[in-house]
Amino acid sequence: MLILGIESSCDETGVALVSWDPHAPREQVPTLLAHALHSQVSMHEAYGGVVPELASRDHIRRVLPLTQTVLSQARCERSDIDVVAFTRGPGLAGALLVGAGVACALGAALQRPVLGVHHLEGHLLSPFLSQDPPQFPFVALLVSGGHSQLMQVNGVGDYRLLGETIDDAAGEAFDKSAKLLGLGYPGGPALSRLAEQGNPTAFKLPRPLLHSGDLDFSFAGLKTAVMTQARKLGDDLPARCADLAASTQAAIVDVLVRKSLQALDVTGQRRLVVAGGVGANRALRAQLNAACHPRGVRVHYPELHLCTDNGAMIALAAAMRLQSGRSQASMDYAFDVRPRWPLDQLDADLIAQ
Ligand code: KG4
Ligand code: ZN
Repeated sequence: MLILGIESSCDETGVALVSWDPHAPREQVPTLLAHALHSQVSMHEAYGGVVPELASRDHIRRVLPLTQTVLSQARCERSDIDVVAFTRGPGLAGALLVGAGVACALGAALQRPVLGVHHLEGHLLSPFLSQDPPQFPFVALLVSGGHSQLMQVNGVGDYRLLGETIDDAAGEAFDKSAKLLGLGYPGGPALSRLAEQGNPTAFKLPRPLLHSGDLDFSFAGLKTAVMTQARKLGDDLPARCADLAASTQAAIVDVLVRKSLQALDVTGQRRLVVAGGVGANRALRAQLNAACHPRGVRVHYPELHLCTDNGAMIALAAAMRLQSGRSQASMDYAFDVRPRWPLDQLDADLIAQ
C-alpha cells in the first residue's frame, strides 16, 4: 500500500511516499520510498519570521512539483497511490488549507481515500524511520518551534500529556534569543553553531521551573535575561556573542535534560524518544545521551534530516494509524483544518466525528 504524505503546516513544504504492507506484523515499520522538501526560510528571512500569507502562497507553488519529484524518485505513477495523507493541524490555517485542499483534490481525482494527520504525532513517530527505531512504550520529549511537551506514549494514538511549556517553546527560546544576538531567522541552528565556539558557563542565566516539582517548562524569562545581558554588554556584545549563545543553549538544554529525567523517573519508563526541530541540537543529544546511558535508559532520535518539518513523518504517521486500526482513510473529500489541536485530545476528537 502506497501512502502519499503532504506537510504544509508552517514554512516547509514536504511531500513523501511511504509503503506499508497491511498484512505484515504490527512491529514492521513502514518503509520510506522517497521524500522531497522545500524550505521557505530564505523567503521569510527578510521579515525576521514567518509571514503566513507568503507561506500559503509558496506552498501552493511547491506542492505539486514536489509531488511529481517524489513519484519520479520512487518510480511510481499517481495512480499507484492508495491513500493521500495531509497535515490537518496544528499550524497556520492558510498554510494547512493548501495541503488539505491539494490532498483532497488528488484523492477525489484518483478516487482514493484521504487521511488528515496531527503534525505533532508525525514528529513523535518520526524516530520509527531511523536506523534505531524505538519500541512502545516510551517517554517522548517533543521540542519544536511551537511546542515543548513531555508525553507518556503507550502506542499509536495512546498519548498522555505529562507536562508542557506554560509560555514559549524551546525552539522559540532558541529563535528569540538568536534574534536578540542578531543571528537572523530561524536562529536555532545558527545559535547552536555559534555556541560551539563559546563558554557555556560564561553567563549565569536562569533555568526557569527547574525545581518546580512538576514537568512543565517556561522559557519566556530566559529570553528576557538574554536581552538584559545583551544590553549590558553593549559594544562588547560582538566579542562575547559566542559565550552568550553557549550560555543560552546550556540553560535550555539543562532544563530539557533534567525534566526528561524526571519524566522517566515518574513514569518508570526505560526509553526516551526525542522529536521536533530542537531534537537536531547537538548539545541536547550529547547531554541526554550522557545522562541516560548510566541509568540504562535508551534514547531514540529521528534521523537529523527528519527532525524538522517534512512529509515523511506525515506519511509514516498515516501508515501507523492505519496499521494500528486507530484511523480509517475517508472518501469524504469535505476537509477542514485544526490550527489548534492538542495531541492528547487527538483520539477523542476523531471518535467524536
Ligand atoms: O519541528 P520544527 O521543524 O517546526 C515546528 O513544528 O515548530 O521545529 C523548528 C524549530 C525552530 O525553532 C528551530 O530554530 C529549531 O527547531 N531548531 C533548532 C535546531 N534545528 C532546528 N534549535 C536548536 N538547535 C538546532 N540544531
Ligand atoms: Zn514541526
